[in-house]
Amino acid sequence: MPPERFYVTTPIYYVSGTPHVGSVYTTVMADVFARFHRMLGIPTFFLTGTDEHGEKAQLAAEARGISPAALCDEYSAVFRSLFARYGVSNDDFIRTTEPRHERTVARVLGRMHAQGDLYRASYEGFYCTRCETFFTDQAVRDAGDACPEQPVLHGKIQRLSETNWFFRTSKYAPELARRIEAGEMEIVPARRRQEVLGLLRDVQDLCVSRHRSRVSWGIPLPFDPEYVCYVWIDALFNYRTATGYLDDDAARRADDAAWWAHATHLIGKDILKHHTVLWGTFLLAMGEPLPRREFIHGWLLDERGLKVSKTQLAGAPAARTPGAEELLAVVGRDAARYALVTAMRGAEDAPFSWNLLRERLDAELANGFGNSVNRVVRMIHQSCGGRFPGLDVNSDVNADVNADVNVRAKVDAGARAAAVREAALAVPAAVRRLPDILDVHEVLGAVRAGVQEISLFLDEEKPWKAAKDPANLPRVGATLATALEALRLLSLGLHAVCPEKMAEFRAVLGLGAEPCFEPESRWGLLAAGAPLGQPPGLFPRFDDAKFAAAVPDAAPGAG
Ligand code: ME8
Ligand code: MG
Repeated sequence: MPPERFYVTTPIYYVSGTPHVGSVYTTVMADVFARFHRMLGIPTFFLTGTDEHGEKAQLAAEARGISPAALCDEYSAVFRSLFARYGVSNDDFIRTTEPRHERTVARVLGRMHAQGDLYRASYEGFYCTRCETFFTDQAVRDAGDACPEQPVLHGKIQRLSETNWFFRTSKYAPELARRIEAGEMEIVPARRRQEVLGLLRDVQDLCVSRHRSRVSWGIPLPFDPEYVCYVWIDALFNYRTATGYLDDDAARRADDAAWWAHATHLIGKDILKHHTVLWGTFLLAMGEPLPRREFIHGWLLDERGLKVSKTQLAGAPAARTPGAEELLAVVGRDAARYALVTAMRGAEDAPFSWNLLRERLDAELANGFGNSVNRVVRMIHQSCGGRFPGLDVNSDVNADVNADVNVRAKVDAGARAAAVREAALAVPAAVRRLPDILDVHEVLGAVRAGVQEISLFLDEEKPWKAAKDPANLPRVGATLATALEALRLLSLGLHAVCPEKMAEFRAVLGLGAEPCFEPESRWGLLAAGAPLGQPPGLFPRFDDAKFAAAVPDAAPGAG
């Protein structure tokens, strides 16, 4: 049974620097998941946005000599525009400085305080402003007095001492561990589950305030305005503000509860602890259910094997890892999306370089799917008058649809035709499984296998040669029809990743831009005699001239 709804979120991004391919990675993955669900007819809500409060934003604004509000407006708009140009179809874009969000957070803090989950105490410890996170003395010492998460990039960190407000994380952690053990919040990939349970064995109460004298850019604690709220308690509740949590309007609150029951958070492994230990205990304190699922991916790595990041190493060589804007400029929207989605298999850290993506895009899109479409459509124009020729006699899985076709064709497209059909039907089958397992690589693997099968089939049938003898034309027609029908089914698997290009292909077939999964996931949809458009040239090969223009500092062949 497909789920009733799908609510998918990305992290909300810090506004302290321009977006890079890592920020785009998570957002494009969420977009792909959202598009697959919409294609399957599942009501979907997709949220992304920017995380604007805290010391990090305050310091970045100071460094630029502008107000934090001006900095946030500027960078939030940069993220928004970039995501739009990547074809991201988010339903809402949340900014934590919006009044709707500040109100939610004030209400959350008020309730936590009223029920005794917040207390005052003095605190001394190491704090990394880049991570906006406290670390234990031991962890910092082990990292050579540097940030334990990013010792090289974030460097030495300072000890802080102040009186603060604390949240009783330790009160809720055991219950959270029990629920995760009982499978209440699914963790994908499953191997991360043990890691989360390990984190929960060693928790301390969380400091949730910052004194105004140090950090003024934040939501004031409603019960103690000397302090602003720690940026992570503020940030995490964005996932509920957007759907109407604690809203005055009961209908909005009901809507929030309905979406929340189907929430999937996409995050990088850098913020796993925040999304499990912190978020889980906050939700339990509020008497709220846990999210249905968290999908945790690794990092895209640069050519030095370091996490691609907003913080650049001083004196580092010109990074040959594609920038988010460069990638779009060189390969175009849909190929850029494909390069990102295929970069990280099994959610493991993965290098991301021009050479790797060039090889993959040329092999899988230009020479793979794109070339198959062009060849087949071109041959139908050459040999079959540009009309869909009709499927072969063995394709009567949908006899009602094909009755007319079968009478006319009366030919057999060969033994490999059945294998082509099977490979093609594996794609919608994988799409149907996606809501369960969120494995986009299974879908894309089925597409690649389908392309391979079609290529073997064409090599065996050689329709370009056979067509020279008019007596062979019925068989040639059946061959090309089989290949094109298979490509149509494969396009259902590519649609969420490359929506513009698949819409172009669909226009060639006379189909509307957005697929209707039922009945399009069946074999035998295209009708014999339907006129086809011209070969669409979907995915050009990697363009060296464009690359040289967009990335002028690249050494020849640099990767
Ligand atoms: O952590 N590879 O924001 P952030 C893959 N505001 N993904 C990457 C990546 C890389 N090299 N670098 C970043 C924050 N990401 C908080 C989140 S949520 C309530 C608050 C992606 O701007 C990945 O999703 O540092 C990572 O978790 C996120 O960007 C961190 O973005
Ligand atoms: Mg970060």
